[in-house]
Amino acid sequence: MAGESTNWWKTGIIYQIYPRSFQDSNHDGVGDLRGIIHRLPYLIELGVDAIWLSPIFTSPMVDFGYDIADYTDVDPLFGNLADLDSLIEAAHRHQLKLILDLVPNHTSDQHPWFIESKTSRINPKRDWFIWRDPAPDGGPPNNWLSEFGGSAWEFDPNTNQYYYHTFLSAQPDLNWRNPTVRNAMHDVIRFWLRRGVDGFRVDAVWYLIKDDQFRDNPINPDFHRGTLPRDALIPLYTADLPEVHDAISGMRKVLDEFPDRVILGEIYLPIERLVAYYGRNLEGVHFPYNFALLTAKWEARSLAQLIDKYEAALPLGGWPNWVLGNHDRPRLATRIGADQARVAAMLLMTLRGTPTLYYGDEIGMRQVDILSEQVRDPFEKNVPGIGIGRDGCRTPMQWDATRSAGFSDADSWLPVADDFRTDNVDCFRKNKGSLYWLYRRLIDFRRKHIALTEGSYTPLKARGDLLLFGRELREERILIALNLGPEPIAVSFADELLCGQVLLSSFADRDGEEVRAGIDLRGNEGLLMTVNRVGLDN
Ligand code: NOJ
Repeated sequence: MAGESTNWWKTGIIYQIYPRSFQDSNHDGVGDLRGIIHRLPYLIELGVDAIWLSPIFTSPMVDFGYDIADYTDVDPLFGNLADLDSLIEAAHRHQLKLILDLVPNHTSDQHPWFIESKTSRINPKRDWFIWRDPAPDGGPPNNWLSEFGGSAWEFDPNTNQYYYHTFLSAQPDLNWRNPTVRNAMHDVIRFWLRRGVDGFRVDAVWYLIKDDQFRDNPINPDFHRGTLPRDALIPLYTADLPEVHDAISGMRKVLDEFPDRVILGEIYLPIERLVAYYGRNLEGVHFPYNFALLTAKWEARSLAQLIDKYEAALPLGGWPNWVLGNHDRPRLATRIGADQARVAAMLLMTLRGTPTLYYGDEIGMRQVDILSEQVRDPFEKNVPGIGIGRDGCRTPMQWDATRSAGFSDADSWLPVADDFRTDNVDCFRKNKGSLYWLYRRLIDFRRKHIALTEGSYTPLKARGDLLLFGRELREERILIALNLGPEPIAVSFADELLCGQVLLSSFADRDGEEVRAGIDLRGNEGLLMTVNRVGLDN
């Protein structure tokens, strides 16, 4: 609700760091916590408010940290608990919040809980995971498929049962129907909150509960070859089950034992299902991540519709959020091109709701082509050749033109992009026309204009490639005009009395220009204007 609250996670900007690729400090070609501490001044200069770290916990790294062997320790690859404490302390000293990744759906098969669970059918931890007898023919108990290809069941010859894994067989699913499991995860949450972390992004949270009758998932009639093997079935009995909301509100209660913390859910569902994760009385996650822009057709009319649909679907008091990139999806600048990446920056920083910025998107990092012998991503290894590889969006941060782009003084774990000598933080810092500077100006501008952080959102009628909307709070009225195409557009406002001034232009050359009843946009240009009125039908 406009002006209702100023929680940091509502007004702030979240910056996602993929720790393996941000900054190496110990010469092993893999990023670490000390490296992140070293780069904090950069994040402060950029102006973001919170950092979310993808997992840094003890892990065999089969899924690069999303397979956890100890929820309450740091993997030596990234440092140790003392390093994490130092990071928390340093971040807080600079008013930066720190969000960790919580992975409650599954552990690593090397987690002591699973090792114990595997020992026998009568082990007290047996029911912490999901074990089933083979089907009469000895095969898997049902037709459930893994997200990462193949059956979701793995046979254990020792106890003659199968265990369930939503992702890799090295990532057995915890049994969230078991209250002891819930309590154990609640203790993990408390452990980190007591240590001072400001909240969690919760991994794969819509998968937590599975059908207790283990019914077969229905066949997907729309499935065709060339798409993900898991799409052969509709995940009716393995995802988004009604009881998941109870499991989430349990975690939320634990969060609420501590002041001012946040819990954000990773949920890939259509908008109408997604918004249920706020909880009936907002007792769910503070917000389910809204990934609609990751796959949206980059075209003004589609985006306008998508934004309207999302705004309309939000429950009363449910806070919106927007994401343009993450460690699982192709890089934005490759998806929509460098020119539109600038327009996207303006969109992300002006829509109503919390923006999450993926490391490197502020310098327009591209998807890097990965040769088959360089592939590290287990998803790509399991389901090769259909373009789902995630290595290309996880390459080292491009800091400067030196070896490994300033990320490491050793060879980096993934290749650095070819363009790193010209497209890096160091070069872009010196060029006020760069995307990096556009982000800096936008972030600064957003911080100074309450209409952008807490104001209402008003879609305005527009045609063709133009996306036009207003943000408004009290006396502050901002009009945002974005040209989603390469051709110039003349915008004339239906409201002839509308006038104002350009506050920020994407090419940084029109600030202060007068606006009267209309304005011309160049191709791929975006303008933020302060105006005397918005909200009247355009
Ligand atoms: C979602 C994470 O974002 C992804 O990187 C990971 O592979 C799966 N969950 C499994 O944890």
